[in-house]
Formats: sequence, structure tokens, C-alpha cells
Amino acid sequence: DSGVGGLTVVKELRRQMPQEDILYLGDTARMPYGCKTIPEIIEFMHEILTFMQQRGVKIAVFACNTMTAHGYRLAVGKYPFPLVGMDKGIAEALSRSSAKKIGVMATRATIASGSHKDALTELSSDAQIYPTPCPRFVPLIEAGHIDDELAEEAVREVALPMQEAGVDAIVLGCTHYPYIAGTIHRVLGDKVALVDPAEATAREAKRVLEQHDMLKEDGIGKAELCFTANLAKSEELAKLIIDDENVEFKEVQLPSRF
Ligand code: DGL
Repeated sequence: DSGVGGLTVVKELRRQMPQEDILYLGDTARMPYGCKTIPEIIEFMHEILTFMQQRGVKIAVFACNTMTAHGYRLAVGKYPFPLVGMDKGIAEALSRSSAKKIGVMATRATIASGSHKDALTELSSDAQIYPTPCPRFVPLIEAGHIDDELAEEAVREVALPMQEAGVDAIVLGCTHYPYIAGTIHRVLGDKVALVDPAEATAREAKRVLEQHDMLKEDGIGKAELCFTANLAKSEELAKLIIDDENVEFKEVQLPSRF
């Protein structure tokens, strides 16, 4: 991921597969990815996957919707390990929406890709989608504004128009956003369902490991959480969601491919 966002996926991976070791990379030096050009997003993805390859991983999970939307298809088959992209959350949102009006909160780049819209079109001919870029969220979250005035104001700006349109289920289409789920709930109340695709993504990762006969049977795994900058702040934010002991924090540099 671009920063601490993908830790919301790490949390689910550890819940569903506590026996596995995890190597995480958050590219905090270059976040946010959601406002970068598509060639930049693709290059950053390859640098991260090269880092993973050098470290000998057996599978790589894209804990980032932006890289999933723009890079995943280009990376499949290019690395000696299977890849799992972020689930789009559309199927779950549809099942939780009685109005059949689905909101999507995501980065500019993810919304521009149209991937959530395409996923909905495949599943339903009458549901409506309200894709909304939320470029203010990631820098606020990375700076620790999670449930204060600033965070609430940024949430209001994008969430209230969705509510007025009758949306009753919202996909958190960026792995950073579960950090502010409490603030979104406070603004919208509990009649709007928030869908975090991390659980479905971790389930798919487990399925792929089983399919390749690579799932570890027992033991307690450790997590190595690596960041390219702002280690102290990343560690502080990580501890809000990952409260387990076998976790180590590190600052690393990504390999340049040129
Ligand atoms: N957390 C990422 C995502 O899911 C990227 C956010 C960003 O850096 O803009 O899209």
C-alpha cells in the first residue's frame, strides 16, 4: 500500500490466517497514490513487487485499491508467486442495500478507473452507483486526523450528498478509509451500511494459498511492517488497529528498477 491503509487488510489476514508470517510495505514516502498518474502508480507497484520478490514471499496481496484498479492486470503472471487484488466490495454492498443505491468512496485514480461501476454492471441491471472521489481523506488519515473536526468536515463534504441521493450502502473503496469508519458513521448514522472489502480480500488470499497447497497449518506468524518514511507516525497509527505482539516496524528503501 501507499502507507498505513493496507494495515486494515493485514489485520484481516492475521485474523483469518494467524499462522502465516506477513511482510508489509507502506510507501509513506510517496503517498498518496490516488492523485498520481497511472504510469507512476504502475511503476510504484512494480517496485513494491520487486521488493517482495527479493524477500522471497509466496503470495502478494494488493492491500490497495488504487494499485488493484490500475496495476493488478499488468502484474499477473510477471512474478513467481500468485497475486491477489482488493475485492471491490460491490457484491456485499448490493446484499446490504435495500434501496439498490450504492455509494463508493475511493481515491481519484480508483474512481477514474471505473472498476466499481463495471463490477456493479456485471451484478445488477437496476442498481445505481454513486462513485465519489475523496482526495482529502488519505493525507488527513496519514497525519492522524481520524475522529477530529477536520476529519468530520472532510467526511461531511462527500457523505452528505450521497445520503441525500438515498444511498444506503457505501463501499470503503480505499484501504485507508476504515480508519475513519467511526467518523463516517457519526455523520451518516447507522442506517447506512459501510462495506470494508478487507474481509473478502483476505478470504480470497486464503483460498489461493489453499489452492496452491501453500497454506501453513499451524504456529503463530509474525508481521514485519515496513515503511519508506515517517516510521514513528506510521507505528503510532498502526497500533490503533494492529494490537498484537509479534509485530516489528522497519524503515526501508524500495529497490529502483532502473
Ligand atoms: N490505500 C490506497 C487505496 O486503497 C491508496 C490511497 C492513496 O495513497 O491515495 O487506494
